[in-house]
Amino acid sequence: MRAPSQVTARVVAIEPAGAYQLLTLAAPTVAAGSEPGQFVAVAVGGPVTSMLLRRSFALYTADPGTGLIQIVVAEHGPGTAWLVRVEPGASLDVVGPLGRPFRLPPEAGTAVLVAGGYGSAPMFDLARRLRAGGSAVHMVIGAGSAERLFGVDEAHAVADSVVVLTDDGSRGIQGLVTRPLPQLLGPAGASMVYACGPMAMLEAVGAAAASHDVPCQVAVEESMACGIGVCMTCVLPVIGADGRTRMLRSCVEGPVFDAERIRWKDVGTLPADVLGADAMVVH
Ligand SMILES: Cc1cc2nc3c(=O)[nH]c(=O)nc-3n(C[C@H](O)[C@H](O)[C@H](O)COP(=O)(O)OP(=O)(O)OC[C@H]3O[C@@H](n4cnc5c(N)ncnc54)[C@H](O)[C@@H]3O)c2cc1C
Ligand code: FES
Repeated sequence: MRAPSQVTARVVAIEPAGAYQLLTLAAPTVAAGSEPGQFVAVAVGGPVTSMLLRRSFALYTADPGTGLIQIVVAEHGPGTAWLVRVEPGASLDVVGPLGRPFRLPPEAGTAVLVAGGYGSAPMFDLARRLRAGGSAVHMVIGAGSAERLFGVDEAHAVADSVVVLTDDGSRGIQGLVTRPLPQLLGPAGASMVYACGPMAMLEAVGAAAASHDVPCQVAVEESMACGIGVCMTCVLPVIGADGRTRMLRSCVEGPVFDAERIRWKDVGTLPADVLGADAMVVH
């Protein structure tokens, strides 16, 4: 895994993609050696701004040959509102690649990739790498509505099968991404599940995978202030191999975790039995 660097990236293109904006940036040192599941942290607001914190985005593509990276941006609050309005030719301050990527299986098998909304961004490169290693890939892509789906056509190009769902039925099957999982995880004999999307979706996908005894890796989206491991904003309770729970930083120990290790019901809290919690109690 390549160490992250801070670079000035030129905006090569910005174009709408459904409800999102697709940003293409020239960032050769970020593109070189980044892997699916890693992300970049982008400074927003220009040279003089009150928006002090970087905003994090999963890498959609990273091409070491051209030095280009792409991110998919949903307008959410002030930072992303600024970012989706940058012009080609502008410069962005970008740090990356950050975080730990999805782990590829030691041997070929059948992978089910589940994505919600812009959470599909890191899945296409992952699908290509899995197939290059001989695995079959089935993709499940969902969103609230048709315009919030990302990459359905590309999914058909990189996967052996694709199921598309929307909450409102405006495209594909009406329902949640968990709906086709019993079929895909059972008879199809899946050997691994990968998921990226909102936390509630990740928890549900992890539970479905566990009920079929299939290992599941999820890329979480915790709020991140620094993205480089120093502020502890992004911690979540994760059970270690020794059975003890530790508050792990999702920016450096994640964002990819084994779903079964995350204490989903305790996310956002500091469980009393977490390793080191007793040291924080005032005696
Ligand atoms: C690892 C990772 C990958 C992500 N990938 C994408 C992506 O591919 N496309 C995309 O559109 N968005 C992605 N996000 C979410 C994106 O970072 C937030 O939507 C963005 O930070 C919101 O900033 P804002 O100023 O528009 O909104 P505000 O709500 O004003 O944000 C203020 C601060 O809150 C934090 N924050 C708010 N919402 C979130 C959130 N959902 N997740 C994390 N931090 C948040 C940010 O640190 C930000 O500094 C990702 C987040 C993480 C952690
Ligand atoms: S965002 Fe600061 S430690 Fe993870």
